[in-house]
Parts: sequence; structure tokens; C-alpha cells
Amino acid sequence: MNPLHVDTQKIRLGESSGRAGAPIGVFDSGIGGLSVLNALRVALPRERFVYFADTGHAPYGERTDAHVIERTHLVAEHLLTTCGVKALVVACNTATAAAIHLLREAYPSLPLVGLEPALKPAVARSATRHIAVLATRGTVTSRKFEMLRQSLADRARFSVVACDGLAGAIERADSAAIATLCARYAHAAGTFGALPGHIDTLVLGCTHYPLVAAELRRHTGNDVAFIDTGEAVARQTQRLLAAASLLGDTGMGAASFIGSGPASTLEHAVARWTVQPANFA
Ligand code: DGL
Repeated sequence: MNPLHVDTQKIRLGESSGRAGAPIGVFDSGIGGLSVLNALRVALPRERFVYFADTGHAPYGERTDAHVIERTHLVAEHLLTTCGVKALVVACNTATAAAIHLLREAYPSLPLVGLEPALKPAVARSATRHIAVLATRGTVTSRKFEMLRQSLADRARFSVVACDGLAGAIERADSAAIATLCARYAHAAGTFGALPGHIDTLVLGCTHYPLVAAELRRHTGNDVAFIDTGEAVARQTQRLLAAASLLGDTGMGAASFIGSGPASTLEHAVARWTVQPANFA
């Protein structure tokens, strides 16, 4: 694999003592996983991170499974062999749905965390039992998602919307398209509110969508709960690292950013979307 730019200076391989000091790899088709990285850095402020944005091959959500599987393997291999990560967070619902089982087979001893749309927390939260799920077409047509939905079918009604084009518009920072698509997909989900039958809980089933939560909020009103997976993923990562005795304590929450698209786009996205933990020097 040949990522277009790799910031080796910031990665500084080999500076840490032992596996616990190695970075945690975080990967998404593009910038959406930055919403997960933010939660990881808050929960694990003494770790360091390498974030890979596969922008040159995104969006994944409207591509074939074969494409997503191939890219996921290549990026995972790059993060493991070139960046020396000690754990991998697949911060992409689409890649998780298509390929997490294959990664688990390929790297059986690697602490590996995937994402799935937060339907279970949404069921626990919803009073009206009507829940909207916004995600990519790849996620909502996956077998993994269908099994998850069916396992909860007797506990809530799910209005599921495949949001074609939205992740791409977020990647391009195309405000006009973001506004149009958020309105279209919120409307397609149904009527939001706290009244019986209305949607009172919205699952952000793609890691790009928390980045446009304010735009979506314009169409749902303030009473609707938005649920994403960042904090749950951070907790799971912490559990796996602790179980493997791999928790780091010298990383200071630092993060390096690499990818397969234009460096300037990634730099701009990082400046706009990443949150520095309070104790990050
Ligand atoms: N951010 C990704 C997800 O969580 C996918 C966006 C895309 O590339 O379509 O599904």
C-alpha cells in the first residue's frame, strides 16, 4: 500500500519502551473517525494515537463490499507494520460491517474495536419506542446490521435511512449539500418529537454524522436524543488494553494524522474537528 503522505516525524517509531508505549491506530474512510478519536483522547489521555483517513478511497458507504474489505485490510496492515500500533479502532461503521470478522481472523491477538450503530443504547433511551437510524447504504444493507435490527425488532420501531452522499459532502465541507441532505434524510425518517409514535431518539450510525449534528438538529428539535458510539468505543478500547496489560502512560493524548488523500484536506479537517483534551500539552 502506498499512502500519499505519512508523517513519520510525528510518529517517531521506536521511541517508546515496550508495546504499551506504542500508539493506538484509529481508522476511517475519511474524517468521520475524528469524532471517535475525540472521545478516545478524552478517555485515554495518557495514550498516543495514529489516525488514518482513507480519503483517497472514500466514501466507503456507496462502494462494494470487496472494495471496503480490500481497503480495510491494506490500512490495517499499514498501521500495524509501518506505524507499529498496539491496538486498532475501526472508527467506521461501514468498514466494521463489511470486514471486522475478517480482521479478527487475520489478527487474532490484536486488541481490535469496531463500531456498529448504537441501536441497543437507543432502545434503552427511547420512551416513544420509535427510533431513527441514519447510516450509509453499506451499513444498512449489511447482514450484520440486519441481524442487530432483528434482534431488537420487538422492542422498538426503527426508521432506517441510507444517507447517500452525506459522508461525501462532509468530506468536501460542502455546506450547501450538507444542509440539503440533512433536511432530506431527517424528513425521510419521519416526525420527530416526544409525542406517542414520534421519533424521540436518533442514532448517528456513521462516524461522519456527529460532525453535522447541529445541522441535523435543525430538523429534529431539541427534545430528540442523538446517540453516537464514540464514548462506548473509548470505554471498550480501554477495557481491551487493560485486559492485555497494554495501557500506556506516557502518550499525553498526542495524535498523528496520515492518509491516502490530500494532506491539506486532512490538516484542515483535523484543525476544524479535533478537540484537544484538557490535559494535552
Ligand atoms: N464514516 C463511515 C461510517 O461510519 C463511512 C463514511 C463513508 O465513507 O461512506 O460508516
